[in-house]
Amino acid sequence: MSGNWWRDAVIYQVYPRSFADADGDGMGDLEGIRSRIPYLAQLGVDAIWLSPFYASPQKDAGYDVSDYRAIDPRFGDLSDFDRMLETAHAAGIRLIVDLVPNHTSSEHEWFQAALAAAPGSPERERYHFRDVTDPEVPPNNWQSIFGGPAWTKTDDGKQWYLHLFDSSQPDLNWDNPEVHEEFKSVLRFWLDRGVDGFRIDVAHGMVKAPGLPDTGGDGTIEMIGTTQAPFFDQDGVHDIYRTWRPIIEEYEGDRIFVAEAWTDSAERRSLYLRPDELHQAFNFDLVLAPFSAADFRKAIDSEIANNAGVGAPCTWVLSNHDVQRHVTRYGGGEAGLARAKAATQLLLSLPGVVYVYQGEELGLNEVLDLPDEVREDPSFHRTGGEQIGRDGCRVPLPWKREGASLGFGPAGEPWLPQPADWADLSVEAEDGAAGSTLEFYRQAIAIRKGRKATGLTWLADPGDNAFAFDNGALVAVVNFGDEPVPVSGYGTEVLLASADLVDGHLPGGATVWFAK
Ligand code: GLC
Repeated sequence: MSGNWWRDAVIYQVYPRSFADADGDGMGDLEGIRSRIPYLAQLGVDAIWLSPFYASPQKDAGYDVSDYRAIDPRFGDLSDFDRMLETAHAAGIRLIVDLVPNHTSSEHEWFQAALAAAPGSPERERYHFRDVTDPEVPPNNWQSIFGGPAWTKTDDGKQWYLHLFDSSQPDLNWDNPEVHEEFKSVLRFWLDRGVDGFRIDVAHGMVKAPGLPDTGGDGTIEMIGTTQAPFFDQDGVHDIYRTWRPIIEEYEGDRIFVAEAWTDSAERRSLYLRPDELHQAFNFDLVLAPFSAADFRKAIDSEIANNAGVGAPCTWVLSNHDVQRHVTRYGGGEAGLARAKAATQLLLSLPGVVYVYQGEELGLNEVLDLPDEVREDPSFHRTGGEQIGRDGCRVPLPWKREGASLGFGPAGEPWLPQPADWADLSVEAEDGAAGSTLEFYRQAIAIRKGRKATGLTWLADPGDNAFAFDNGALVAVVNFGDEPVPVSGYGTEVLLASADLVDGHLPGGATVWFAK
């Protein structure tokens, strides 16, 4: 494992509830993950980012942590964690865990102590409590990201507390030194256990503008989108990371922080990546971009330019547990899958790091028709179904063609039902099958290993809605349009094509790599 591995790694996001269920309770677990490490090794990924597995009432699928040093019994225990980590390391795969510092669960002992204590007490100072003056009027106009007001009253009706997300996720008060000390200790707890880094949840949150002023408009803020608000992307948040960086540097092994920071611009995002702060920050511009050459090119140029300014790697992503799967975003069906593969192949030839969300290597689509009763996302429930929520990208993986949960677990129903046609998208169906999405991902990642981008030089466009570039190791041509474009001028030896070339033309919605 060599230095600066994180500058050009492929990192696979495991969503523990939905990856693999070893104990048959319908929900994934750490032992399930451990048992599938060989699959991830074969895929060729360098590291795993593991979404939260901590003790939690699971009101927001584990992003509501009640104990940062304990494993939720649904997922296993600390010895299962240690074994999983050891197995991953033995396979040469690093492990990044999720850290949720903006808020705790309302069941966290600190919040329980705060509720039991009086207004103005040190216990309440760990969160944002404010006196109720008018029971109808919260302290400011902030709305929860999941819908409804961002303030809820305590049972006695005397105080409000702030929650940018669900009412079961009270925001911590980062003006309180005790909160800082606690998270430094949590970092050390997991670093001592051997993790290779942290994905920081809502990394642009935590610090709130002094006095908690109203936002403009009606207080509704979309997090997925780009934004700056009195509670997002405040400059003070950078001070926190300057205290974290020296801690992670104390540990051997080139460990890292990756930020989930939704910012107004690539420039604001790059501030999180200054040398004394974090290592990577997801570039969500391509999650938001339509499938078009102009939009992708703009996002790519701006990420490269801004990150070069701070010496940080570009960090590319198309799907995760919060957004619609990219196959579906690009129209679904065969065309959606073709575009998704083209986009993935493009990402794998850009300079920087690529994150892959579990199941995208199988070509999984968003499940749009989940019955309301099975939906768990608080955003669905808090908006009375107006926001469809994120359950559709969280459906458990199909490992086998058959069985009650398509091999997700040994028995029983998975926590969200899988579409019947996922049998054909199962690992079993795709493994070794010529032309499958899984084999395509394996091949693309393997080719990338031997030909890592050293930069990016745009070449002449092959068509209106298409582009080409030389990344120092290969030439990539991407056709975002529907009509074939001529590509024979870009190379003769095809390393990989997401769709077969026809008479020297690359079909619509496809990428090809040529040897230089
Ligand atoms: C992040 C997580 C998301 C969660 C939210 C609140 O955006 O990715 O899943 O709901 O933070 O923790």
